[in-house]
Amino acid sequence: MISQSTIQNVLDAARVEEVIGDFIQLKKSGSNYKGLSPFTDERTPSFMVSPVKQIWKDFSSGKGGNAISFIMEHEHFSYPEAIKYLAKKYNIEIEETEQSDEQKQAASERESMYLVNAFAQEFFINQMHKTDEGKSIGLSYFKERGFTPESIEKYKLGYSPEAWQALTDKAISKGYKLEFLEKTGLTVVKDDRKFDRFRGRVIFPIHSLTGRVLGFGGRILTNDKKAAKYLNSPESEIYHKSNVLYGLYQAKSHIAKENNCYLVEGYTDVIQFHQTGIKNVVASSGTALTEQQIRLIQRLTSNITVLFDGDDAGIRASLRGVDMILEQGMQVKVCTFPDGEDPDSFAKANDEDDLRAYLDENAKDFIQFKARLLNETAKDDPAQKAEVTRDIIHSISKIPDQIRQELYVKTCSDIMQVSEEVLFSTLAQIKAKAERDYKRAQRQKPQEQMEVVSKPVEHREKVDPQEELERIIISLLLRYGNQSGEFEDFVLKPNDEGDLVLTVEKNEENVFNKIYMELQEDEIEFTNPRFKTIYNLICEQYSEQEMIDYKQLMNNIDVEDLNNEISSALLDIENHSLHRWDTKHIYVNPKEELDPKEITQTILNLRRLLIKKKIEELSLSVKEAKQDSHMEVLSETLEYKKLEMLISNKIGRVM
Ligand code: CTP
Ligand code: MN
Repeated sequence: MISQSTIQNVLDAARVEEVIGDFIQLKKSGSNYKGLSPFTDERTPSFMVSPVKQIWKDFSSGKGGNAISFIMEHEHFSYPEAIKYLAKKYNIEIEETEQSDEQKQAASERESMYLVNAFAQEFFINQMHKTDEGKSIGLSYFKERGFTPESIEKYKLGYSPEAWQALTDKAISKGYKLEFLEKTGLTVVKDDRKFDRFRGRVIFPIHSLTGRVLGFGGRILTNDKKAAKYLNSPESEIYHKSNVLYGLYQAKSHIAKENNCYLVEGYTDVIQFHQTGIKNVVASSGTALTEQQIRLIQRLTSNITVLFDGDDAGIRASLRGVDMILEQGMQVKVCTFPDGEDPDSFAKANDEDDLRAYLDENAKDFIQFKARLLNETAKDDPAQKAEVTRDIIHSISKIPDQIRQELYVKTCSDIMQVSEEVLFSTLAQIKAKAERDYKRAQRQKPQEQMEVVSKPVEHREKVDPQEELERIIISLLLRYGNQSGEFEDFVLKPNDEGDLVLTVEKNEENVFNKIYMELQEDEIEFTNPRFKTIYNLICEQYSEQEMIDYKQLMNNIDVEDLNNEISSALLDIENHSLHRWDTKHIYVNPKEELDPKEITQTILNLRRLLIKKKIEELSLSVKEAKQDSHMEVLSETLEYKKLEMLISNKIGRVM
């Protein structure tokens, strides 16, 4: 890691207008500079640089920050890479702090596994395109399936030859260790024998969000009934099935752009769809959809369309799984295919226009779909009707948003011909039962497992949210300021195709530094004078000794009021959890462990609040503004509204 003092030196030296001026033509405009946004195709400049405040703001993409964040954004650099870039530009020497031996070893083990997977992917591709066996068996199979050369390239499809240890031998001869071949599952080791797991199969590599090879799926080419049709890499340090979606790497920009994600069953559905022209498609590959997978999608969109193949019974069995997607607050549609067709065969038989038209016409809101389907089954049987009513209301109860719940109750009342009153009281019953079950589960949990204690929100006193967030930030600084954590940043970045997508970046950062930088970027100042004083004292202390020591801090402050504030910020866990007031439960972490998400979320909440206030201010001044400055204020208001949406979006993704 780069030392804090190097970072500070870089921050001190870097002039934001000089750094940005290397990439964008800036024109003076009052006390600021203006230019065309490098992140969108705009024709009128909405990219602003303030030399006085040392910040930049891009109103077309919503991003802004300091010199470091500009370099990260523009050059796709990580935080340390950006620091290094700036250090070089300003001739500052870089001082590194050491990683522990365990950290180094774990990192290098995972790195070795990625490397061996990357080698295997290349090997399988070469085998398929450059050998007779590969061409006549592997490549011809994919061609027969209707996959184009572009799809084969895009999804890095390959072929593993029908030989016991073709890959294993080749890899070892190239210096890859058997240990990592085994850990990735590419080689199966039994006693003193070793053989290639995927021999004689066509290969579907499975990529991470950033395109690294996590594992493989291999499809058999013979009609051997005893052998599995598909084999997959085993779980490993780098491949966690429940955390991966097939095709996400190739689909992510399209999902963000279309603001929807199609979910299909497997490899072949994904590729066939993509090739037909519907590119926002992923698969959960064999397993039932998990919460983590839903969250992966949620970073890009809150709309999901589940494509079912198969018969009524199959669909019915899958309905439960969809409830989980609702529970995550996503809008779910479902779409079925004609008898005997699956997404793969249907996409193969149709062109893009027909496929799009079919999806548009047949994708139905999930709750309505389920209500119709179940209603159909129950027909005039009152007992069954009561049962399916409970079932559908059960799904509705999973939706976190009250208003949406109500709307659905109304729709279902129409579809099922049951009065709204009955449906609402059923909903209330189901929710009350869920609450009781939840409390019981909490009580029965053994004490030591109570890592996360949660309880339903109770009536609270009115608090000033901004002041509360400020208090939380002080508390976070005092408790975790000296620690480091892995922070997720959501940044708008152009992808391969040049589209801007919200992308996750993980950076290991020191907590004080992270908070300080974030507040700095948005020129956030504390409004509560006590918090402001404490914050300034913390900053002073940190810049002197690169560490926060609250005891020392309290010794140096002789104002009782402030000392009280510090101790309550340290002790008052209840207060500190308040910023989750808008979720259903309050989580208290009695172990007091650093949770980087909590920090990101707090800062985003504060930013959103300040932007809201700004919008309110502006709309007041619209009323007072003279005719000629009216438009200006209005357009500024609009820009801030865009920012507000973007930040809300980010908050959604942190949670
Ligand atoms: N699948 C899987 N494991 C299996 C069977 C299927 O992971 N044992 C997944 C694959 O991702 C596959 C999808 O489910 O793409 C669809 O299954 P299926 O139609 O059986 O596979 P195909 O390869 O399309 O076989 P066929 O040509 O017989 O339709
Ligand atoms: Mn199939």
